[in-house]
Amino acid sequence: MNGHYYSEKPSTSGKTTTIYTHQLGSPLIFKSQSGIFSWKQVDTGSEILLNNLDMPKNGLILDLGCGYGFLGIALAKAYPDFSLILTDINELAVKYSQENCIVNKVTKNTIVKQGNLYESIKKRKFDLIITNPPLMAGKAILKQIISQSVEYLNENGSLQLVVPKKKGLISMQRMLTETYGDFAVLTKKSGFWVLKAYI
Ligand SMILES: C[S@@+](CC[C@H](N)C(=O)[O-])C[C@H]1O[C@@H](n2cnc3c(N)ncnc32)[C@H](O)[C@@H]1O
Repeated sequence: MNGHYYSEKPSTSGKTTTIYTHQLGSPLIFKSQSGIFSWKQVDTGSEILLNNLDMPKNGLILDLGCGYGFLGIALAKAYPDFSLILTDINELAVKYSQENCIVNKVTKNTIVKQGNLYESIKKRKFDLIITNPPLMAGKAILKQIISQSVEYLNENGSLQLVVPKKKGLISMQRMLTETYGDFAVLTKKSGFWVLKAYI
């Protein structure tokens, strides 16, 4: 399916913007374009996730569904000793994530890859997988994100995600319980819940 922001080739008006923000102690600049999720401003849910993560001591992080790169790039800047892989199905988002890694000078500890779900990072294992999941893409995709995540986590690794209380929280909790048996609530803020599940 093409056209939506969660497709390989999204439709775009061609309008672009530059977002100036300050996250985890660093000023950041994000270029973005129509056709990418929340392209005009930082998404509130993503910001809440970023600021409430339970960070591992070190290692490799996956930003699944990276959009223009907000989460992965902010973490790469704040934690230069970590390595990050950013991936998205949306080719335009991937292009902007790559450009934003350069703009924010985090190319040394980031790799950006285009692909559906985990297909671009097969055989890698992560200490943390983060996602602001694509609720609009439907439950089947969300279910795959959750159920397949266990295959990509190191021992002691975790999946941490944000979900709006009013949209998808119940089914997300059910999916996490089905896959992981349990989950923790890291925060509840401004109508968003940040959840952590681990093996
Ligand atoms: C809610 S947005 C979050 C974007 C970004 N992380 C942020 O915080 O701004 C979800 C992202 O997941 C991506 N996505 C949707 N379906 C996907 C799939 N099957 N595989 C990989 N990424 C997907 C969308 O293109 C979108 O960029």
